[in-house]
Amino acid sequence: MDSLFSGSRVSEIGLGTWQLGMKGWGPGYEERELIEALRGGIENGLNFIDTAEIYGMGKSEELVAKAVEAFERKRYFVATKLAGFNAHAGRVKKSLSNSLKRLKLDYVDLYQVHWEPSIYTSLPNLFRELEREADEGLISHIGVSNFSTRSIQMANDSMKDHKIESNQIKFNVIERPGKDVLEFMRQNSIKLIAWSPLAQGFLSGKYSAANRPGGGVRKINKLFSTSNLDRFGPLLSEFQRISGERGVSAIQVVLSYEKSLGVLPIPGFRNSKQVKDIISANSLNLTEAEKASIESALSKTGILETSTGFYPRLLPNFIAKIGFLFV
Ligand SMILES: NC(=O)c1ccc[n+]([C@@H]2O[C@H](COP(=O)([O-])OP(=O)(O)OC[C@H]3O[C@@H](n4cnc5c(N)ncnc54)[C@H](OP(=O)(O)O)[C@@H]3O)[C@@H](O)[C@H]2O)c1
Repeated sequence: MDSLFSGSRVSEIGLGTWQLGMKGWGPGYEERELIEALRGGIENGLNFIDTAEIYGMGKSEELVAKAVEAFERKRYFVATKLAGFNAHAGRVKKSLSNSLKRLKLDYVDLYQVHWEPSIYTSLPNLFRELEREADEGLISHIGVSNFSTRSIQMANDSMKDHKIESNQIKFNVIERPGKDVLEFMRQNSIKLIAWSPLAQGFLSGKYSAANRPGGGVRKINKLFSTSNLDRFGPLLSEFQRISGERGVSAIQVVLSYEKSLGVLPIPGFRNSKQVKDIISANSLNLTEAEKASIESALSKTGILETSTGFYPRLLPNFIAKIGFLFV
């Protein structure tokens, strides 16, 4: 079977919709504006939409449904995610069916396991069940998120006719996983879907020690510490310099640089103005000299190496479920 990411069906930049869950991002995120912004993105060629059953506990999938209903089904690809605490062969059917109901779709283009479940879960059984759902036509392609190379290998070994086509991990100019993960994914033709491609807005350069973002999600993000704002200041200035010369925004420079690395960035957004910026980034190509100057700035600031997994797998899945009640 052809991978969703072979050829150029999927746009080089997609859209993330955690923000449509309407929780944790602070003031200024309005339902109507978010739906309108997402519609504008699809209208202008951003055809890959990422959501998850846990974003606002289903709210994001419901708002995605409202945005896509105006379009022909083949105009867009919807990727949703099975929460790690539901990633068990016996719970897949229910979660998937609930996501499809909220999305008002007959099938999802990409179904991703959101994070590696606890070690008490059988990964082979889970992926065999996902394959059965694919055979029934409810899932077109299977992916994972925040998975280690070892678990991807185990998933691939369990399936007969399908392969893991993507791993969605934290990836942006300054936060990246180790080279071994990237090399494994390249060798196995696994698309890197880059979450937090704007480092939650940090890379726009609009935040400072005197102007930190609101909302719980970013309050617990150590990236916005004074030391990191200082450390990456010269890199942010380099984005501003290139954006000034090209007459584009810093966000456009950031996303254009990231797509040149062959990953699929899925930026989140708060309004149509931000989505317009993202649309423009989809067609912006940086020169070799511009990319070299970003890399030179990066060689001085260094990067923050991230790990692919975030769930302590010794804890049973129900602990994660309880944890999400408070998010
Ligand atoms: N698989 C996973 O575990 C996982 C985890 C996290 C996220 N994700 C996915 O990845 C998507 C994106 O990641 P993210 O939500 O962490 O954040 P992000 O894309 O790095 O940053 C999004 C934020 O950047 C700011 N922004 C966007 N466009 C802008 C523009 N043109 N100018 C200035 N600021 C702009 C907005 O915040 P303000 O305007 O409020 O500053 C927006 O909410 C999510 O929506 C979700 O779909 C997946």
